[in-house]
Amino acid sequence: MTRIAITGANSAVGNALLTELAGQTDTSAVAIVRRDGALDGLPSAPSITTAVARYEDGDALRAALDGVSCVVHLAGILFESKTTTYQSANVETTRALVEAATDAGGRHLIFISSIGADPASPNGYFQSKGKAEALVTGASFAGTVIRTPLLLGPEMAGGKALVRTASQGSVKTLGGGAHTLRPLDVDDLSAAILAAAAQDEPADAAVHDLVGPAGVTYRALIEQMAGLLGKEVAVGSTPIWLAKLGAGAAGLFRQGGMTPDVIDVITSSEDVPHNADGDLAITLTPLTVTLQKLV
Ligand SMILES: NC(=O)c1ccc[n+]([C@@H]2O[C@H](COP(=O)([O-])OP(=O)(O)OC[C@H]3O[C@@H](n4cnc5c(N)ncnc54)[C@H](OP(=O)(O)O)[C@@H]3O)[C@@H](O)[C@H]2O)c1
Repeated sequence: MTRIAITGANSAVGNALLTELAGQTDTSAVAIVRRDGALDGLPSAPSITTAVARYEDGDALRAALDGVSCVVHLAGILFESKTTTYQSANVETTRALVEAATDAGGRHLIFISSIGADPASPNGYFQSKGKAEALVTGASFAGTVIRTPLLLGPEMAGGKALVRTASQGSVKTLGGGAHTLRPLDVDDLSAAILAAAAQDEPADAAVHDLVGPAGVTYRALIEQMAGLLGKEVAVGSTPIWLAKLGAGAAGLFRQGGMTPDVIDVITSSEDVPHNADGDLAITLTPLTVTLQKLV
């Protein structure tokens, strides 16, 4: 039996992954969260145990990783706040985990990154994900990076926002929603993670771009979702430069939230030169089926 550890287990991706894992007989997991309150509502099954470990506590992290063959690192943010930054949530958690996994004799770490990650990016989010990737691929054990686009599922923030947007008669979207997305069903990501975790001999360092089966503009995605909900929606436009100006001004009074960097991330193209679905041995769910799950 494969035994894996999942950090940020209370995240939306973590919940989907644990739900998938609960139905399997060949994989067990320790679900790691950083605070007691995050244990509430985690999917439960005989094959799932839990651990609470803060990233500043190397001993607790090492203890949580005892006996696992693969660690799946999900903790991470897109929206900074007064208490959480890209550096702390995306980079330092990864650094602490790589150190703990090294000490615990780790064999394989899978990191969920983002399409566009790049340590040299001027965008704080893409830069932090790129730096975290480098920590994973530079580790002394096997490191697998799976870069993902907008993830869709009933409990994913992106899925909920899409349903909310498509349910309004008239909406304004950034740049008229002209940017191209490659939305990925979160259940496909779970399948890819579990397949990668089950590998007997993972590559020393592998970086995969895993996106959904179809390219679609955000505008068309909203319209398609509205159709499935039996609604009509008129999609208008807020100029991206204007939104960034407003976000920049708001940033004078608050930390994080919808910043110009976040606007750049959510309006970036998610097209990739090569999709890793074949490399990761998964079959992608058609977009219509994924959208049906949100209805
Ligand atoms: N959702 C998407 O469409 C998407 C797209 C591309 C990549 N990803 C990546 O996939 C992963 C999971 O995403 P998600 O949407 O499922 O996340 P989510 O539901 O927003 O959950 C975020 C997780 O990160 C933890 N976290 C936040 N700040 C932290 C900090 N400073 N230190 C340690 N842990 C911290 C949270 O723990 P607490 O509850 O304790 O705060 C929670 O477990 C993330 O790495 C994300 O960047 C997601």
